[in-house]
Amino acid sequence: MTLRNLSMALLLLATPFLAAPVVSQSQGPIAQDDCVKNYDPNTDYFPSKIEVDHATLFTVHYENNYKVVSNVAPGVNQTYVLTQCGTPPPDSSLFNTSNTVFITIPVDNAAVVTTTSIAFIEMLGERSAIKAVDTEALVSSPCVQYDLEHNKTVAIDDRNATLRTDQLEDVDVIFSGMEVEPGLENKTVITSEVLDPGPLNRAEWLEFYATFFNQEQYAQNLTATINNNYNCFKDAATSQPTKPVIAWTSYDAPADYNNNTASWTISDAEYKRILSENAGATFYNGTTNNTFTDNAEFLESIKDVDVIIDETMILGSSESDMQAFLNNYNLTSANKDDYKFLKNEAVFREDGLVNPNDGRDWFSGAVVMADAVLQDVIRAVHPNVLPASVHYNWIRNIAKDEPPQILTSANCTSTDADKPVPDRAIQCSTMNTTGHDTQSLEVNVGSLTIASAWTAVLVVFTAAMTV
Ligand SMILES: *[C@@H]1O[C@H](CO)[C@@H](O)[C@H](O)[C@H]1NC(C)=O
Ligand SMILES: *[C@@H]1O[C@H](CO)[C@@H](O)[C@H](O)[C@H]1NC(C)=O
Ligand SMILES: *[C@@H]1O[C@H](CO)[C@@H](O)[C@H](O)[C@H]1NC(C)=O
Ligand SMILES: *[C@@H]1O[C@H](CO)[C@@H](O)[C@H](O)[C@H]1NC(C)=O
Ligand SMILES: *[C@@H]1O[C@H](CO)[C@@H](O)[C@H](O)[C@H]1NC(C)=O
Ligand SMILES: *[C@@H]1O[C@H](CO)[C@@H](O)[C@H](O)[C@H]1NC(C)=O
Ligand SMILES: *[C@@H]1O[C@H](CO)[C@@H](O)[C@H](O)[C@H]1NC(C)=O
Ligand SMILES: *[C@@H]1O[C@H](CO)[C@@H](O)[C@H](O)[C@H]1NC(C)=O
Ligand SMILES: *[C@@H]1O[C@H](CO)[C@@H](O)[C@H](O)[C@H]1NC(C)=O
Ligand SMILES: *[C@@H]1O[C@H](CO)[C@@H](O)[C@H](O)[C@H]1NC(C)=O
Ligand SMILES: *[C@@H]1O[C@H](CO)[C@@H](O)[C@H](O)[C@H]1NC(C)=O
Ligand SMILES: *[C@@H]1O[C@H](CO)[C@@H](O)[C@H](O)[C@H]1NC(C)=O
Repeated sequence: MTLRNLSMALLLLATPFLAAPVVSQSQGPIAQDDCVKNYDPNTDYFPSKIEVDHATLFTVHYENNYKVVSNVAPGVNQTYVLTQCGTPPPDSSLFNTSNTVFITIPVDNAAVVTTTSIAFIEMLGERSAIKAVDTEALVSSPCVQYDLEHNKTVAIDDRNATLRTDQLEDVDVIFSGMEVEPGLENKTVITSEVLDPGPLNRAEWLEFYATFFNQEQYAQNLTATINNNYNCFKDAATSQPTKPVIAWTSYDAPADYNNNTASWTISDAEYKRILSENAGATFYNGTTNNTFTDNAEFLESIKDVDVIIDETMILGSSESDMQAFLNNYNLTSANKDDYKFLKNEAVFREDGLVNPNDGRDWFSGAVVMADAVLQDVIRAVHPNVLPASVHYNWIRNIAKDEPPQILTSANCTSTDADKPVPDRAIQCSTMNTTGHDTQSLEVNVGSLTIASAWTAVLVVFTAAMTV
């Protein structure tokens, strides 16, 4: 079935339209999902406006019937002119057409190229707009996995370029993480949330996405809620008397692309520094060296680190346990007393929430849910700040054998595509912090399948995440 036929079939099957999460409270003449019937140039069609507080890589400007949204990330510099359906787009001569894309909103027929965009769109309650996804094997969202399994969403082909183009021609907008689809420049939107340097910056890209769906009011509320919760966690964690040292490290095995040379890296990514400091930890970046090809020098550099977050890209549960970590870092359990993180049993990985192919929600939900990520980092460095019942989301302790939690389509509990996916954070203001140790819950781990074909894609994601 072609996508066009499929869309048509889906249209016939479509359940009655359900109300958007927050209905515009404006007195304007349009409901936010409708096209304008009788255009009046003097009417402000966007009474709810985005005010960017933390994000540094996008801007939004409003006119009466269109918005000018710019991605100003280094090397991107693209402008999106978003015109309300039923109103005339502005004259293109007002813009530099070489980097301007004209789009009619609200968007209801989009393709997403990265799993990161899925999490933002789902938190806005706009999953119904996702008609096609790329890197489908890495999708962690249970409901998008469900939609893929039930042919409600198309998996964009990677092998057959003709088919890929056909599939993408059927959508109005392509949300892409980095690259413009060749020949489809005039509908590609580049999103750069992973380049915006800070957890709250990243979360605020909710407002960027919101402009395409007229969900400004909802997005502003959501980011304010995330910010408040984040700051509450930050206050609780940074008031702790100690500042454990944390490092985010990874091992790169010898391979063709690295000249068969093993290396170990200590991350210096800005958002990890901010998360670490806001969790009440001291961020360790190796001081002078952050990439080592000499194992002994690397180990000497990290020996006094209290908490390690191991970011090594490995697929499959047997290669991501504590023994694998020790092998990769050239350590043994006999080294326990020489390394603080071993003594502390504080070795974590970011694959606590994955799909059955090890498609990590760390690259999706964890980009937008800044408060929940900070909660996870606090659990790693100051567990007593959180109530004893708090479970991990993404950051699991492999030194304590905490297993990955597998998300499948069975975890899609609401097939209502307009129901916003909730944040995974607990409400910080209601926390009971009387000094418990954390406990881990029993989670059943399904068998992991190794999808080596996706390694390259994962590497690209990692590169983007560590900028
Ligand atoms: C970005 O694009 C605008 C036009 O849209 C142009 O004036 C400006 O010079 C560009 N900036 C860079 C850094 O390329
Ligand atoms: C138009 O945008 C392109 C790409 O950013 C830039 O190289 C060019 O200088 C811009 N032209 C004008 C007139 O601003
Ligand atoms: C989805 O489409 C594929 C390929 O066209 C087909 O094999 C499969 O049975 C379909 N699944 C459902 C649930 O309709
Ligand atoms: C590629 O896709 C097109 C369009 O669906 C199809 O006609 C063609 O047979 C496909 N080619 C291969 C090699 O599968
Ligand atoms: C995009 O470009 C194609 C081919 O150049 C054209 O047919 C199409 O109408 C354009 N779409 C928009 C939204 O400008
Ligand atoms: C968000 O909206 C809810 C419901 O309208 C409201 O109770 C809450 O105070 C709002 N939060 C913020 C931070 O504006
Ligand atoms: C790759 O390794 C070989 C042998 O160890 C060495 O001679 C060569 O300079 C290396 N190349 C690079 C680009 O590091
Ligand atoms: C570590 O961070 C400090 C302070 O920002 C910086 O000066 C230094 O260059 C960083 N070290 C490495 C190896 O990135
Ligand atoms: C691992 O450590 C041992 C010493 O404990 C050293 O002899 C060996 O060369 C190291 N292996 C690598 C790959 O660096
Ligand atoms: C940093 O790397 C250099 C070689 O590039 C090495 O000589 C030096 O010992 C390293 N410093 C530390 C602290 O490991
Ligand atoms: C996913 O669903 C299964 C039951 O189908 C449940 O046991 C598991 O806890 C859920 N996982 C998460 C992370 O919610
Ligand atoms: C907080 O925890 C303490 C110790 O377990 C308990 O006695 C108290 O009732 C709890 N308070 C709340 C509000 O849950």
